[in-house]
Amino acid sequence: MSEKRYRIVLLPGDGIGPEVVRAGRRLIEAVARTCGHEVEFEERLIGGAAIDARGEPLPGETVEAARRADAVLLGAVGGPKWDGLGGDRRPEAGLLGIRKALGAYANLRPVRAWAPLLTASTLRPEAVEGVDLLIVRELTGGLYFGKKRRERENGHTRVVDEMVYTTPEIERIVRLGFEAARKAGKSLTSVDKANVLESSRHWREVVERVAAEYPDVPYTHMLVDNCAMQLVRDPRRFGVIVTENMFGDILSDEAAVLTGSIGMLPSASLGEGPGLYEPVHGSAPDIAGRGAANPLGTMLSVALMYQFSLDEPAVSSAIVDAVDRVLGEGFRTADLARPGDRVCGTEEMTGAVLERLRLT
Ligand code: IPM
Ligand code: MG
Repeated sequence: MSEKRYRIVLLPGDGIGPEVVRAGRRLIEAVARTCGHEVEFEERLIGGAAIDARGEPLPGETVEAARRADAVLLGAVGGPKWDGLGGDRRPEAGLLGIRKALGAYANLRPVRAWAPLLTASTLRPEAVEGVDLLIVRELTGGLYFGKKRRERENGHTRVVDEMVYTTPEIERIVRLGFEAARKAGKSLTSVDKANVLESSRHWREVVERVAAEYPDVPYTHMLVDNCAMQLVRDPRRFGVIVTENMFGDILSDEAAVLTGSIGMLPSASLGEGPGLYEPVHGSAPDIAGRGAANPLGTMLSVALMYQFSLDEPAVSSAIVDAVDRVLGEGFRTADLARPGDRVCGTEEMTGAVLERLRLT
């Protein structure tokens, strides 16, 4: 029995966020029981839930708790209820704010085609079989965090969203991309729009410079529009993709199609502070509160948490194996189901994974 003690901050947020975070919590509790870890959970408000209770999407106490944590697990934020609010008062401002506050500049989004789910994709099974790629998305710069302005000009409205990157911001994410590619023994594709954007041209220069430190890692540059096409045309060509914030946001939703459902995609956001773990999917207000959400994106995010923040790689692989087994046995939440499949809910799927978890 180890003597490890972990402090985990839970940020359920909105919509299906609380349901999937509950699944993540059950998983962490099950691991703690078997491995003899002590876990202390602290639950805090973020997003629309925080706006309703405190009048702001990211209360200071949420940031403070997250900064003290060993790791943070987040559900999802947003929903139609808060759609009318201005930019920095929206639920999404809570998510962007916590990423920034934790200095979480590297968003890792692994995408794999699970063998039992090949027919869940709208793409042909033979097109997606064997896909196993990693999107490394820059998370605290670019259009998301540049100056935003709305002004009047000649009787019209003029709007500005600035795309800003500095050399060190590009360098650290590109280096992380090369490291990830080297570790996985894969190639690196750096995605930009260097035929149009100055920020992308500088991105390319930085990639060229950093690449010299990784002579063993094959790499290419790819324009983002071409990458969007190649991702569905020939997805197996990709190993690690490194790209700026907005391109990574868009490409990762597209890549979700390879895995069958965005409900399957986990993410880890790493940087200066504690790691932040969240499923890639949104708050899915249409199914919220029905117990129908797919908890696997969150459970796989917990697997990433054990890998990157809690230094328990064996626990991480045990979770991935349990998910694989559950899928192999035919468990399907609604987002994964094909006509004729028996559909299970969030709790049943969570329980099935826990029962198949083999920790030694
Ligand atoms: C994501 C989401 C967020 C983003 C939204 C909710 C602000 O789409 O995590 O991909 O754009 O980063
Ligand atoms: Mg997104």
